[in-house]
Amino acid sequence: RYGCVALGSCRQGATLIMSDRLGRLYKIIITQQWISAENSAVTLLIWTHPFGRYRKLPDCSALFQIDGCTLTDDERAYPQADAVIVHHREVAKGTAELPPDPRPSAQKWIWMNYESPAHTPRLWRFEGVFNLTLSYRTDSDIFLPYGYLIPRERTDRTPQNRYAHPLHTPSHSHLLKPRLLAWVISNWSESHARVTFYYQLRRYVQVDVFGRAGRPLPEDSGGGSVVRLVGRYQFYLALENSQHTDYITEKLWNAVLAGAVPVVLGPSRKNYERFLPPEAFIHVDDFPSVRGLARYLLMLRRNPVRLRRHLDWRGSYSVHQPVFWAEHYCTACRAVRRNRRKTDVVKDLTYWFRS
Ligand SMILES: *[C@@H]1O[C@H](CO)[C@@H](O)[C@H](O)[C@H]1NC(C)=O
Ligand SMILES: *[C@@H]1O[C@H](CO)[C@@H](O)[C@H](O)[C@H]1NC(C)=O
Repeated sequence: RYGCVALGSCRQGATLIMSDRLGRLYKIIITQQWISAENSAVTLLIWTHPFGRYRKLPDCSALFQIDGCTLTDDERAYPQADAVIVHHREVAKGTAELPPDPRPSAQKWIWMNYESPAHTPRLWRFEGVFNLTLSYRTDSDIFLPYGYLIPRERTDRTPQNRYAHPLHTPSHSHLLKPRLLAWVISNWSESHARVTFYYQLRRYVQVDVFGRAGRPLPEDSGGGSVVRLVGRYQFYLALENSQHTDYITEKLWNAVLAGAVPVVLGPSRKNYERFLPPEAFIHVDDFPSVRGLARYLLMLRRNPVRLRRHLDWRGSYSVHQPVFWAEHYCTACRAVRRNRRKTDVVKDLTYWFRS
């Protein structure tokens, strides 16, 4: 399936329609923000610091203009907490217990998880336990993805907009970057589809591999230096460790930020199109074979006008990557304030999260 991207056939008009559709995704995110005046302040207890790594709790009012939140990681606040955020990993692995019974009435337990289903063990233990879900899935009760685009015409002065990076259409010299294709990979596993894909792809094109399995990453391998590294390349392999609904991680957003065209392996093309214009990425399923994909990349390399088609959309968007976990906590707090008097129970956690 070559789709619009390879053929460039449905480009006209597509940008407008897409910006509309992405505008809707953005709207889901910002309509979560509305709080009526009568919702009073809430206390949110962070049950465990994710992965056992302590992080200072954010000031939601100063960072995101989300008022009325008291965040605490002191379990003595449990009896008074309006909600408790439980990060899946620790309670699933048994390094932490669930909060104790009896649960204070009207208190909400929020299930928080940013791993894919393949790396989310023992979900079945938590059926009917939680009241709200917080994850990267668009159909979570509280939805916050790894990253999202904000259409430029949105003039909302939301704090998220303040942190967003405007994207730029590339200059001509920028299109002629000397390096072709990079991949940063930290968890190399022969059982991952992405490794199989890489073995095939490298038969046809040069792939510069960085990370534990390849060349060393620049010192201070925080997000910033990875983005600078990727920015020297025309294409970047944004290959997820497993393929699941909406599971699109910072790998994609780093490439977008860097101005490299992402070659993606993850959920379906349709699923990526919830997050990006169709021409903004090259999907491995766009081609009947890995060889076909490789040829397409080499063709684009010789043809800046065609390459530009994959980058021109950038002029209409900014990108925002929420910071783990400050924005997650504050977004959860806002949701709790909004849904105060409602009762919710997450019944089919396993079925839902794996679907
Ligand atoms: C790395 O991949 C393996 C195989 O899928 C998985 O079991 C492991 O949890 C992964 N490690 C990390 C840190 O993601
Ligand atoms: C939260 O979930 C528990 C367990 O299913 C349920 O008993 C309780 O009524 C729920 N509370 C709220 C406020 O939704």
